[in-house]
Amino acid sequence: MTAKIISGTEIRKSILAEIKADVEKMKAKHGKVPCLATILVGKDPGSVSYVTLKIKTALSVGFHEIQDDLPEDISEADLLALIEKYNNDPDIHGILVQLPLPMHIDEKKVINAINPDKDVDAFHPVNVGRLMIGGDDARFLPCTPAGIQEMIVRSGTQICGAEVVVVGRSNIVGKPIAMMLAQKGVAANATVTIVHTRTKDLAAHCKRADILVVAAGVPGLVKPEWIKPGATVIDVGVNRVGMNEVTGKVILKGDVDFDAAKEIAGKITPVPGGVGPMTIAMLMKNTLKSAQYALG
Ligand code: GUN
Repeated sequence: MTAKIISGTEIRKSILAEIKADVEKMKAKHGKVPCLATILVGKDPGSVSYVTLKIKTALSVGFHEIQDDLPEDISEADLLALIEKYNNDPDIHGILVQLPLPMHIDEKKVINAINPDKDVDAFHPVNVGRLMIGGDDARFLPCTPAGIQEMIVRSGTQICGAEVVVVGRSNIVGKPIAMMLAQKGVAANATVTIVHTRTKDLAAHCKRADILVVAAGVPGLVKPEWIKPGATVIDVGVNRVGMNEVTGKVILKGDVDFDAAKEIAGKITPVPGGVGPMTIAMLMKNTLKSAQYALG
């Protein structure tokens, strides 16, 4: 049996088309569109390409975009002042400060300075708390976990009652996705186990999973024999394992041994083209949601 491939690239297309249609409706009804402010400090090539893609995507769905490219040596006080200015601007619905920040800036202080109602990354402790409470309190869901949940739903995988195993316990993926899938509610009600580097028998836990979410950052960690036949496997790993000498492109590998795993799993996400493309789509969804709240 060969698994059905869950394409993040295809699902993203549908989500962005839905967002674009909602933006057009908002424009017709209120004469306004969502506005995302992106703040980039320094010129780290990875961050520059991420932010460029976020801006391009925002513009493609009809958002307004405000872009700040700040020098590497900007002071923490100046960055906080800019955030405060955007916090108080009713025409800005989302504020995104690209991470990581230079060493002299306290990242936590910066995240905490963003108005939680404009925190479209959902990194602010208030939004982390809202996610724990669940239901309508969870206004913004963190983008990568929200993308994972959307992929599971749109692939037709039943979450309610499923055994979910999450490999990894990071604040941005492992912990939030575990909580989201265990919550009471739609696209949830799963029985969730979190496993990590100190777990005694990773393989035994993974083998029980109807839905296996792997966010460990270890290329090829999950072997085919760890997968329950027919399971849905979501690979969050984006590991740079080398460079193609002919094309000069970085070679990416997931946390799951994809070629072997696809012969066992029922559904599986590829790397690249799986979870990766979903994150920015969910950022757009949060920004749209923020504008919808602001307009009432
Ligand atoms: N750096 C890498 N990923 C992200 C993200 O999702 N949001 C922000 N703000 N910075 C990042």
